[in-house]
Amino acid sequence: MSESYIQNLFAERIGGSQYGKSTAIYKFEKIKRAKRAAMALNPGRKIIDLGVGEPDEMAFPEVVAKLHDEAKKPENRGYADNGDAVLKLAAARYLARVCGVKGINPETEVLHSIGNKAALSILPTALINSGDVVLMTVPGYPVFGTHAKYYGGVVHNLKLTAENGFLPDLDSVPPEVLVRSKALVLNYPNNPTGATATPEFFEKVVAFAKKNKIVVIHDAAYAALVFDDKPLSFLATPGAKDVGVELHSTSKSFNMTGWRCGFVAGNELLVKAYGDVKDNTDSGQFLAIQHAAAYCFDHPDITEKIAGKYSRRMNGLVRVLGEAGFKVKKPKGSFFLYVRSPKTAVTKSGQHIAFASAEDVSQWLITEKLISSVPWDDACACLRFSVTFEAKSVVEENRILSDLTGRLGDVRFEF
Ligand SMILES: Cc1ncc(COP(=O)(O)O)c(C=O)c1O
Repeated sequence: MSESYIQNLFAERIGGSQYGKSTAIYKFEKIKRAKRAAMALNPGRKIIDLGVGEPDEMAFPEVVAKLHDEAKKPENRGYADNGDAVLKLAAARYLARVCGVKGINPETEVLHSIGNKAALSILPTALINSGDVVLMTVPGYPVFGTHAKYYGGVVHNLKLTAENGFLPDLDSVPPEVLVRSKALVLNYPNNPTGATATPEFFEKVVAFAKKNKIVVIHDAAYAALVFDDKPLSFLATPGAKDVGVELHSTSKSFNMTGWRCGFVAGNELLVKAYGDVKDNTDSGQFLAIQHAAAYCFDHPDITEKIAGKYSRRMNGLVRVLGEAGFKVKKPKGSFFLYVRSPKTAVTKSGQHIAFASAEDVSQWLITEKLISSVPWDDACACLRFSVTFEAKSVVEENRILSDLTGRLGDVRFEF
């Protein structure tokens, strides 16, 4: 069959005429394939899926009921455009009550998003020209950088390691990169490391941004999912509103991943520019969903309950992985446990299995132990285990955790 002329019309940013021809298999596809193969080889056995990056539960019943009510209102049926006041007001109340951020003007300093991912894909349009540099953390969520590159932007990666407490070393950016830098993208509590930021770090970020005339985008997708301390907002830092915005979402904090709703708040000029590009990108999230999201932001106890569940599961996972030899420390938030990946597995029969990378370990865990995790090899060879595994009760959770103990019981890991 001759090739369609369409093949030669693709933009260079997605591969040009070579688009779709790469045979490289990406990490998440490799995981999916390994899971399928393991299930086919082990009929009747279940994968313990610790690789999932989203909540295992539905939104709370009262939130579903709120959506139902709002969906019935004729005035909510049309294009929402940049939204009405309901979510903006609730967002400002939420920032004040939960994050201690006072004085956010709901009219000019807040705008809804169709989730943080959508906001991260829109903001580069407002900021990035060809050759501009974006400072991003690795490992991390790459969406802002991907879109920045679409516009000819360049990503400068800052490594997150255990040694730097998973906080980027801002002083490490070379001067010639710094002069071309326009944005710094941060995410705390962090995916995948589970790390949380500190007020001192955020103060340093504000000073860094002001000194170098850089915009800060703080992706707070896991904002209030913290276990002991209070949620820490970047916007609570003195001067933060002069330099950046923070992105909040109902996806993880309120078990609403599929609903697609959040907000961007902070610097008025940035919010306005986001709104202008957004207005030319989508026609706004369904107002019924925005109003249900507003209900959530007025009920932060929902997040506290969810965080309590993750904290309990995290205690169990830390114990089980610790007993299996992993060096584990309970994170202060998120639902991710990030651990150094082993170099070798030694079986009871004395067999030594050597691993060249975290990806090797992840594949081996799926194939041999039916345990799924997500590997990261960018800053260290590390594995991310998530506590969002499916379990309907505490009894079920404990059963899964003891199953995990059993599956890891006949190997010793060397690091
Ligand atoms: C760091 C980070 N940012 C953003 C998102 C996407 O959030 P949302 O569902 O609000 O688009 C995710 C989802 O995995 C994430 O891990």
